[in-house]
Amino acid sequence: MNKKIKYILAIESSCDDTSVAILKNDHVLANVVANQEIHAKYGGVVPELASRAHQQNIVPVVQQALVQANIDKKNLDAIAFTRGPGLMGSLLVGTSFAKSMAMALEIPLIAVNHMQAHILAHFIDDELQKKPSFPFICLTISGGHTQLIRVNDYFSMEILGETIDDAVGEAFDKSAKILGLPYPGGPFIDTYAQLGNPKAFPFPNPKTKNELDFSFSGLKTSILYFIRKKEKDNPNFIKENLNDICASIQYTIIDILMRKLKKAVHQTNIRHIAIAGGVSANSGIRKALIEAQQKQQWETYIPKFEYTTDNAAMIGITGYYKYLEGSFDAISISAKARMKVVE
Ligand code: KG4
Ligand code: ZN
Repeated sequence: MNKKIKYILAIESSCDDTSVAILKNDHVLANVVANQEIHAKYGGVVPELASRAHQQNIVPVVQQALVQANIDKKNLDAIAFTRGPGLMGSLLVGTSFAKSMAMALEIPLIAVNHMQAHILAHFIDDELQKKPSFPFICLTISGGHTQLIRVNDYFSMEILGETIDDAVGEAFDKSAKILGLPYPGGPFIDTYAQLGNPKAFPFPNPKTKNELDFSFSGLKTSILYFIRKKEKDNPNFIKENLNDICASIQYTIIDILMRKLKKAVHQTNIRHIAIAGGVSANSGIRKALIEAQQKQQWETYIPKFEYTTDNAAMIGITGYYKYLEGSFDAISISAKARMKVVE
């Protein structure tokens, strides 16, 4: 086999998606994601159920990825896995499986930081996305995180700002819950928002001490009070105005994100802007970035849809760059629930 070609099997199990990918260098051969439907009826991820579902899913998902990639596990060069941050019970399933597989195949083990992986997903070789040039600013927006990162190199990153309370995905999901929409509500708000008037109901734009930090908990509270008040006069208020309410919520959230991005550009003088994480699937933020590319002369990088929400391909690409650096981990490494983007 050509020594320059590396096959990496990557495992992601930080939250409620069991995902396994196989990469040939920076190219994705397979990226299988098993979603856990079970959490929808509880209105949020139940950690105990998530780890059990990972246990059930992990073997079939690994097998499916190998079949899809059409490679024998004997040809793998390394096993990459999500070390953290995430739910401990969920992380342990992927971590233990990755260790056993690396030991059995006698190949290197590579621990990956999930937050770095969301950003490095941009470097997956795919005709539907372009690779950013360094330095760039990445707005990482997911169910667990909201961060503005200055990315100097693959593993050299600085946090410019982050949320002081809820993550932006939580703001979407909690607002959706108030409206009686299923979990996770972000994609539902996005769908209804596209049919509504974004200026129908104004919601406040919160202030933060550090102007690059974010705060979303006040927005959720103001939406809750607004809905309660309106429902007093009209019990059918949500039903009759769902599109406009969703459009107004989405408009407010995107407006907050775009204002912060503009401030970060102003502070750093970096005009290369990427978005990452589950919320970067949102049609509003994608549209706002495309507009900024034209109006503000930014060079923007929007990831391919399947690399935005949690997936193992992003763990694989991060593993690939760590492999090139010879950055391998000992079999004694443990999962870590809390991890910063740079440790
Ligand atoms: O990155 P991700 O899959 O998981 C975490 O690491 O948190 O992000 C999940 C989050 C959820 O809050 C979900 O509602 C949100 O991403 N999300 C969206 C959209 N698609 C997913 N939020 C708004 N609009 C969307 N289209
Ligand atoms: Zn994530």
